[in-house]
Amino acid sequence: MKAEILENVNLKGDYFQVRFAAPEVAAEAKPGHFVHVRIDERRDFMLRRPFSIRDAQEGVVTLLYKVVGKGSAALSKLEKGTCCDLLGPQGRSFTPQKDHRALIIVGGYGAAATWQLTRSMPGGVVLLGARSADDLLLADEYKAAGYDVRIATNDGSVGKKGFVTELIPELLAAPGEKPFFVYGCGPKPMLMALAALMRKEKMAGELSLDEIMCCGVGSCFGCVVKVNDENSPDKFRYARSCKEGPVFPAEEIYIGEM
Ligand SMILES: Cc1cc2nc3c(=O)[nH]c(=O)nc-3n(C[C@H](O)[C@H](O)[C@H](O)COP(=O)(O)OP(=O)(O)OC[C@H]3O[C@@H](n4cnc5c(N)ncnc54)[C@H](O)[C@@H]3O)c2cc1C
Ligand code: FES
Repeated sequence: MKAEILENVNLKGDYFQVRFAAPEVAAEAKPGHFVHVRIDERRDFMLRRPFSIRDAQEGVVTLLYKVVGKGSAALSKLEKGTCCDLLGPQGRSFTPQKDHRALIIVGGYGAAATWQLTRSMPGGVVLLGARSADDLLLADEYKAAGYDVRIATNDGSVGKKGFVTELIPELLAAPGEKPFFVYGCGPKPMLMALAALMRKEKMAGELSLDEIMCCGVGSCFGCVVKVNDENSPDKFRYARSCKEGPVFPAEEIYIGEM
């Protein structure tokens, strides 16, 4: 559907936030869903670009994005009043859990994909990982939503110096009343490390994988990831992340070469 841009602003550095008037998409959007965006009609942008729905309220869909290439750069230049074509909400969403406390573990713009969980699962913990303070996103927003925010950066410019997964042991050492259910999103190496740790510590959860996508609707197999399959001789099968994901139960994720 055609969606008009209500606002498209630079948050900091290469990070932008765009708000679309898209009532049909907003009405259906759940945490972890994404929209497949046709940025404009030029040949350069025939392929849509996938972005997580950072928020969806009152007919407005908000995306938080980093400029990394041609498509995201073109998006960052679109002004209020121009339109993009949005396909979505797409994919499998996160599953809020009544009997658990949310433990959100994210890297970079992965913080956008999990944001809506703060409404369905209030009072959780979020571990925000980033390369440096410049890449740290939504810390104040998670705090304002009542989340316990803990931060790790690779260069130590804010929070603990190291990987975000290194913040997990201190949480496990002081368990609360309800068990944690992990919601993760971020770069692939981070998610692989997280999936391995969750398996070791027997932590339940779901992880959202950002695979490069083409059609976004399950027909081209351009976005496959390996998932565990006991019935296959190789013990894995390929799953289309746009259709069967991008959110997968952590225990389904094949650890090894993806
Ligand atoms: C389900 C899903 C949710 C996403 N959510 C967000 C989001 O909330 N915010 C955001 O900024 N980005 C998000 N992405 C990544 C985003 O789709 C890409 O950054 C974007 O498509 C790049 O387009 P481009 O034309 O600017 O870059 P291109 O010119 O196509 O590529 C530039 C660089 O970005 C890399 N790249 C391209 N696609 C991806 C991808 N899917 N994941 C990682 N690297 C990629 C390329 O390998 C290349 O190095 C998401 C991706 C998926 C699959
Ligand atoms: S992007 Fe075409 S099947 Fe997923």
